[in-house]
Parts: sequence; C-alpha cells; structure tokens
Amino acid sequence: MYRVVKKAVLAPTLNLFEIEAPLVARKAMAGQFIILRVDEVGERIPLTIADYDRGRGTITCVFQEVGKTTKELGALNEGDYLQDFVGPLGMPSHIENFGRVICVGGGVGVAPVFPIARALKEAGNEVIGIMGARTKDLLFWEEKMRSACSELHVTTDDGSYVRKGFVTDLLREVIEEKKDVGLCVAIGPLPMMRAVCNLTKDYDLKTIVSLNSIMVDGTGMCGCCRVNVGGEMRFACVDGPEFDGHQVDFAEMARRAVIYKPLEQQALNRFVEKQEHRCTCDCGGGEK
Ligand code: NAD
Ligand code: FES
Repeated sequence: MYRVVKKAVLAPTLNLFEIEAPLVARKAMAGQFIILRVDEVGERIPLTIADYDRGRGTITCVFQEVGKTTKELGALNEGDYLQDFVGPLGMPSHIENFGRVICVGGGVGVAPVFPIARALKEAGNEVIGIMGARTKDLLFWEEKMRSACSELHVTTDDGSYVRKGFVTDLLREVIEEKKDVGLCVAIGPLPMMRAVCNLTKDYDLKTIVSLNSIMVDGTGMCGCCRVNVGGEMRFACVDGPEFDGHQVDFAEMARRAVIYKPLEQQALNRFVEKQEHRCTCDCGGGEK
C-alpha cells in the first residue's frame, strides 16, 4: 500500500499528489511514468512522473479528474493509501547538451515537462520554457518552471493572464527570434502536440512528444498502447512514452484515444449516480 503524503488542489479538478513509494523514487527519472490502482478492484491508470524526491522517497503526480478512476483518486486525502503503485515505467528522456532547447507545456502537460526542463538545464542547456493554459485559474507551477528554465514565456487562451494565445503562438515567435535551437520538447493535449509538430517541421526543429496512449499492463505485453511512429508499430509503455513527434501518426492516435469513450462515460455515470444516491438516503451505499 502506498500512502498519499501530500495533496494539493492546483485548480478545480486538478490535483497534485505526493505518494510515498521509496523504491520507485530511488530509480525515477524525467520522462518516466507510473501505473496505479486506487483499490483492489480498480482499473490501472498511467500517470507521468511530475517530480520525485529520493531523500523523502516520494513521487509527485498531477492529474485532472476526468473519469471514474481519476475522480476516485481525487476523493482521497492525505494519509489515505493507494492499492498499487508500479514504476518507474517507460524510457527516461534522452538528456544531453543540445545547446539551446525549448520546452513547451500545455495545460496539465506542464507537470511532466518540468522534470525534463530541469534535467536539460542541469545538463548545461539554455532552456527556453513556454507554458500555457485555457485561463489563469488553470495555470500552475509557473515559479517551478521558471526555476527550471533560463527564460519562461506564459500565455492563456483567453488572455486572462500575461497574454492571449496558444503556446504555438509563442513558440513561433521564439523560434523566429532564437535561430539556433537544438531541440523542442512538447507535452500537453494531443491537438497541442500535433500543432507544435506541424509548426516545428517547417523549421526542421527536432521535436520530442510524450504520448499518453491507453495502457493496461505498462510492460509491453497487452499491445493496448500501440502507436504508429514512422510507419512502425511501437508500444508507448516500453518504447516510449517519448517519440520523435515528426514521425507520430497523430490522426491514428486520436482515433484510438476515443475507442472506449462510451464505456468510460457509462462508468462515470454509474459512479456519479452512486455518489449522489449514497448521501441522500440510508439505503446503505446506493447499490441498486
Ligand atoms: P487544454 O485543452 O487546456 O490545453 C492546454 C494548452 O494547450 C492550451 O492553453 C493551449 O495553449 C494549448 N493547445 C490546446 N489545443 C491546442 C491546439 N489545437 N493548437 C495549439 N495549442 C493548443 O489542456 P488540458 O485540458 O490541460 O490537457 C489535458 C490533456 O493533456 C489530456 O488529454 C491529457 O491526456 C493530456 N496530458 C498528456 C500528458 C502526457 O504525458 N502526454 C500529461 C498530462 C496531460
Ligand atoms: Fe500494454 Fe503497453 S500498456 S503493451
């Protein structure tokens, strides 16, 4: 069992958990992920590692409450326990001195991009950070990102903070201004990563994306996480999760990402019904 040692609500439905998992923390590196189960009948969900503390033996994950399992997870509090916490999984980010790099985090993607930016800076790179959110209230870790970057640019879709626009608007400006960029790393929602790659292709700027495809085992056995990269089938859990974004078939990824949407919606509806039913009468928990 794995104890939640810290819980912070970063924005409505956006949570940060620090989980006590010393063996995972000892080996964790930027770019890797974990798979957890909330309880013994729960589904396995992957979350990218947002930070780790080897001394305290903790892993930090940031997650959005979107479906049944993430809502169950978000209902836990400090001192509660997770059933399983497996990791670190996947290949670590490739870190070397590229000279000047750009790290782009969109929305929740700021969390997994942070340790990569930090590692790239520690390797001697000049790290230009770009982060964006739909609105000011959804923006988090600005100071943490600033500490991991040589310079940081911030944007909001609605202009409620700093400036109005997508991260790609800032990215175009930065690439135009700073000519010799060696690498771009982009993490966020699929349409954002696709838009970043379409842009950087024009500048022949190598771009790494982190693919959060549907996963089950996370160890290369079920085939659930397969993605098409450069015309070849790759498993995001063991070959990735990071890939050359210019080689990724984003259209196929987007199709696969919604395969289970109707079932996910059913599970969420049942969960919400059960929660609402539970507290309005003394029926014993809402099982119908
Ligand atoms: P969001 O929709 O709020 O978008 C975040 C930012 O991305 C926006 O503010 C904008 O700047 C940019 N963006 C979005 N769509 C864009 C487009 N079409 N073109 C250019 N820029 C665009 O994001 P969110 O709700 O925080 O993100 C949730 C998604 O991120 C989930 O789908 C989750 O699966 C994914 N995610 C991925 C990882 C990963 O490791 N790959 C990690 C965390 C979250
Ligand atoms: Fe099963 Fe990747 S999650 S092969």
